[in-house]
Amino acid sequence: MNVLIIGGGVIGLAAARELRVAGAGRITVLEKGRAGMESSWAAAGMLAPDAETETVDAMYRLCRRSNELYPEFAAALLDETGIDIELDRTGTICAAFSDDEADQLRERHSAQQNAGIQADFLSAEDMRKLEPSLSGDIVAGALYRDNGQVENRKLVQGLSEFAQRNAIEVIERSPVDELIIKNGEAIGARCNGRIFEADAVLVAAGAWSSVLLETRCPRVTPVKGQVIAFENYSSLRHVVYGAGGYLVPRRDGRLLVGATVEDAGFNTDVTADGVLSLRGSAERLLPGLAGREPVDKWAGLRPFAVGGEPLIGAIPGVRGLFVATGHYRNGILLAPVTAKLITEAVLAGSVPDFARPFLPASGKEAAAS
Ligand code: GLY
Repeated sequence: MNVLIIGGGVIGLAAARELRVAGAGRITVLEKGRAGMESSWAAAGMLAPDAETETVDAMYRLCRRSNELYPEFAAALLDETGIDIELDRTGTICAAFSDDEADQLRERHSAQQNAGIQADFLSAEDMRKLEPSLSGDIVAGALYRDNGQVENRKLVQGLSEFAQRNAIEVIERSPVDELIIKNGEAIGARCNGRIFEADAVLVAAGAWSSVLLETRCPRVTPVKGQVIAFENYSSLRHVVYGAGGYLVPRRDGRLLVGATVEDAGFNTDVTADGVLSLRGSAERLLPGLAGREPVDKWAGLRPFAVGGEPLIGAIPGVRGLFVATGHYRNGILLAPVTAKLITEAVLAGSVPDFARPFLPASGKEAAAS
């Protein structure tokens, strides 16, 4: 089975790797820019299946499953490529700055516990012991023990290296003009004046997916996130949410602060307002940052699918056409499980039951489009 993947971000590259491991034939990845350099590069790499939810639903189970796949995924990539993606499962903390915020956090924590989500409620004293450099104004917190982060830039470098070593052709600067669909079957794509033929076509083009898929599945739109980074800041061990933002401490001493959530089309400009608000969150959480200048600033586009959940599976009504997109805030977290699911869908024509809610559209919706 020869597979054409459109989109060389973390989802497309992880799918290419999994397809190769599972024994697919020729695998070609067409990337409109440079592989891994859009949202996958802009992300902060958080793995937060528990910290960002209080409901145990299909989306939560998908996120948990992917989080559980990460240790094996990271070890395999290290073995295959020599690249360490810096998987860190030290835990993720949420911080409350007022009695009202503490009450909300306590309510959330008990909803999470009732739902079976592992979380520890922390007093101000616990918070100080866990992270002494955080603000003394913090009155309570919650800890999610096996949530954490990966170095997402190393992750896409690792996946690109795997592609290079395993005969996966990644063709950069190659925007696809159109999918080629004949008699209800996807047979390839047109790009750079060439036709790329394949037995299966997987659209994994993130925020750009609907440009190609049009109305064949629920619409995917970009949601901008700005991030800033400080350097030489190594006092923090956990990923921390609070004060309207989050902090991600990297192994090399960089501290990432994210992220805005903006409807700005495909614009990725960094704005003075965005940076101001991120610096405000960072300084409130970590007073030691006051007066320090960020060394880097960037923005990326989260792919948001109508309904807020990812689209992973076969496109109804077109044989051989698949999609893996719409991961919104969870693209890095969901890469391992998405790669497994889409590989099963492409090679075996089946998708495990727990993933069914993420199939792109009902037959009815597809027929109406
Ligand atoms: N995963 C966090 C964000 O999208 O900002």
